[in-house]
Amino acid sequence: MAEPDRSEGDVNLGQRRQAWQAAHLDDATRALLDEDARWFLHQSMSTPCLNALQGAEGAWLTDTAGRRILDFHGNSLHQIGYGHPTVRAALQETLDTLPFSPRRYTNRPAVDLARRLCQAAPMQGARLLFAPGGTAAIGMALKLARLATGRFKTISMWDAFHGASLDAISIGGEAVFRRGIGPLLPGSEHVPPCDPGHCVFGCGGSCALRCVDYIDHCLHKEGDVAAVIVETVRSTDVQLPPPDYYRRLRQICDRHGALLILDEIPIALGRTGHLFAVERYGIEPDMIVVGKGLGGGSMPLAALIAREGLNVGPHISLGHYTHEKNPLACAAGLAVLDVIEQEGLLERSRRLGEAALHHLRTGLAGLAAVQDIRGAGLLIGIELDDPDLAEAVLYTCLSQGLSFKVGQGQVLVLAPPLNVQEADLFWALDCVAHAVRTHALTAPHG
Ligand SMILES: Cc1ncc(COP(=O)(O)O)c(C=O)c1O
Repeated sequence: MAEPDRSEGDVNLGQRRQAWQAAHLDDATRALLDEDARWFLHQSMSTPCLNALQGAEGAWLTDTAGRRILDFHGNSLHQIGYGHPTVRAALQETLDTLPFSPRRYTNRPAVDLARRLCQAAPMQGARLLFAPGGTAAIGMALKLARLATGRFKTISMWDAFHGASLDAISIGGEAVFRRGIGPLLPGSEHVPPCDPGHCVFGCGGSCALRCVDYIDHCLHKEGDVAAVIVETVRSTDVQLPPPDYYRRLRQICDRHGALLILDEIPIALGRTGHLFAVERYGIEPDMIVVGKGLGGGSMPLAALIAREGLNVGPHISLGHYTHEKNPLACAAGLAVLDVIEQEGLLERSRRLGEAALHHLRTGLAGLAAVQDIRGAGLLIGIELDDPDLAEAVLYTCLSQGLSFKVGQGQVLVLAPPLNVQEADLFWALDCVAHAVRTHALTAPHG
């Protein structure tokens, strides 16, 4: 079977994975994995799975063999960790009183969460719609952009991920989701992302924002683009556009009558040290899409938040999802906002993120295999010079009880819960640094 693309995913079907499984899985786990592989359709980056879980609490997972795994991956939904007591209490109370709310009715948790998110969003007069997942919320954003502008074209980024449905993969830019599955949505134009380390416009590490000039050019040539859609900070490989990127992008979108939609599904709610990642850039987008951690690490919940003036679809169903105002999910969302406030997690994300970057830069200094160490809050990327090295480091760390993602084949992405214990955080950083050092100095990376 062909090796899957090394893009968004980390755990592949290669030999290292087989070796890891042979060394670590017990019979009962193997049997469960076999059953999983029997009943689920197989797909890239999920079934067949690597291992099986029996528990998740705080920053930790427990596998079916009883091993504890510190989770710096978490599918980017564990900003406040798993099973936070505040989330559990909110879920329990809501389950006892209002386990569901049919669409004809509204309910207190849904209204309260909508108000709090809209008031916190960096947009005037915001309103929102909830959806049962990020992909669905992206779909609503695309529909709203068409309605609001009377145009259908979009500009989005190569390598981006916005979800796995047909509309989301049309604007996404990863082959593993798009290849052989078209035709995709017409008018979905793609441009290179702002990726200063690998600039296709030749900026060579010091970003001159030529990628924004190119978007300007495309918007001008197309003439009728509804929206530009960007992951504010791309979490998969920790791409951090420079401060001027969004100021310029905002200006050119305005000039060409295109809306600016920011996908913050994995990175809102404190991951980068702000409730919304765009706050670090100080601009107002037209829409922001959030999700993942909004459901408290348990419930599927996402939201499309739109600025004043975009309440233009009363005659049409933008979402109409069964779980559009699910009281349980919304109660979890309110608990998440409470926890972030009560535990000071925005400030903690910034402070620990800085300390972690410093620790890694010191620990990995002088290693030629380390191309870059970058981060925003507790979203940290270590870019290596070789996918094979990245994979070797991953499996060594998994053996030691640390899980994280590998993005774009060679970026180790560390995304701990924002309330991770400091001792656990620094143990994990040392574990990664030690594995990188060991494997970088051993060729091939055995
Ligand atoms: C940037 C981004 N957008 C959209 C999505 C899709 O969200 P969901 O899986 O909740 O549909 C994801 C999920 O990983 C994501 O990372």
